[in-house]
Amino acid sequence: MALHLPINAECNIQCTFCSSAGRNGDFSLAKLKADIDADTIGHIQISGGDPLLRDSAELLEIVTHCRKKGKIIEFQTNAVLATRYDEKVFGLIAKLVDFFNVNFSAHNAELDEQVTLVPGGYDWRIKGIHYMTKLGARVRLTYIVHNTNVHQAPDFVDFVAREFPDVEWIQFSYVKGMGRAKGSLNVIPRFEDAAGPLNAAMKKCMDYGIKFDVDHIPVCFVRDYKDHHADYQKMQDEQTGVHLTEKQKTGECEGCDLASWCPGPRRDYVELHGALHS
Ligand SMILES: C[S@@+](CC[C@H](N)C(=O)[O-])C[C@H]1O[C@@H](n2cnc3c(N)ncnc32)[C@H](O)[C@@H]1O
Ligand code: SF4
Repeated sequence: MALHLPINAECNIQCTFCSSAGRNGDFSLAKLKADIDADTIGHIQISGGDPLLRDSAELLEIVTHCRKKGKIIEFQTNAVLATRYDEKVFGLIAKLVDFFNVNFSAHNAELDEQVTLVPGGYDWRIKGIHYMTKLGARVRLTYIVHNTNVHQAPDFVDFVAREFPDVEWIQFSYVKGMGRAKGSLNVIPRFEDAAGPLNAAMKKCMDYGIKFDVDHIPVCFVRDYKDHHADYQKMQDEQTGVHLTEKQKTGECEGCDLASWCPGPRRDYVELHGALHS
C-alpha cells in the first residue's frame, strides 16, 4: 500500500498503456504538501506525468518534505531525463529517495519506440538507470505487461541480467485498464495468452537470481511464483486496500484452491474480456 502522488500531468513520452493519460489535478506545492501531511500509510509514490519535468527547486522541496515527514519515498519516472536534469538536485534526490521505480517495458530500441511512440528514449533510459545506480540509489524496473511486449518478457530479463547488474529488482505489472489502456483490446492481453511468456520470464529471473514481483494478474495464472505476487502477500497479511476494490472474483473462481489468497481479476479486465478464460 502506498499513497500515489502525481506531481504533474505532463510527460515527455507517450506509453501506449499509460494509466495517467488524461488525468489532471491541483499540483501546487501547498496541495502536495497537505496530501503528504495527511498521509497515514507512510509510503509515498512521487509520480506524474513524469516528475523530472517539474522545476528542480520545487521537486527538491517535495522530496525533502516527504523525507522530513519520515515517509518511504518511491520515485516513479521513465528515466529519460535523468542525466539531463539539474545535476546537483538529482544527486540530492538520489540520496533522499528510498528507491527509484523506473518504468521500462522494452529490451531494445525498436520495441521501446513501439511502446512509447518516441524515438531515442531507449538510450537515454539506459544512461539514466546507470546514473541512478552509480549514485548509489536502489532501482526497481517496472515492466508493464501488455500486448506490444508480452512475448518479449523473457528477453527483457536477459537484457536486465546483461545490462543492469546493479538494478535491485524487476516488477512485472499486468496492464491496468486505465487512461490510454482503458477498454482497449489492442493494449490489454488475455491472461491465458500472457501467462506463458510471463511465467517464462519469471523462471529466467529465478535462474539468474534476479529478485522480482508480479502484480495485477490473478494468482492462478502465475501459481508457481505465488510468493512473488503482490496480492498473495497482501491477502496473507490480511491487508485492506484497493486490491480488494479494483478486483473481484468471478464465478470461475469458485472451488479454486487459491481463492482465499487472491482478490480475483481487475474489474476493468472482466468488463473488457468478459471472463477469466475464453
Ligand atoms: C503513470 S506512471 C507516471 C510516472 C512516470 N512517468 C513513469 O512512467 O514511471 C506511474 C507508474 O504507473 C505505471 N503504469 C502506467 N500505466 C500503467 C497501466 N496501464 N497499468 C499498470 N501500470 C501502469 C508506470 O509503469 C509507472 O510505474
Ligand atoms: S507511463 Fe509514465 S512515462 Fe509513460 S506516458 Fe505515462 S507518465 Fe509518461
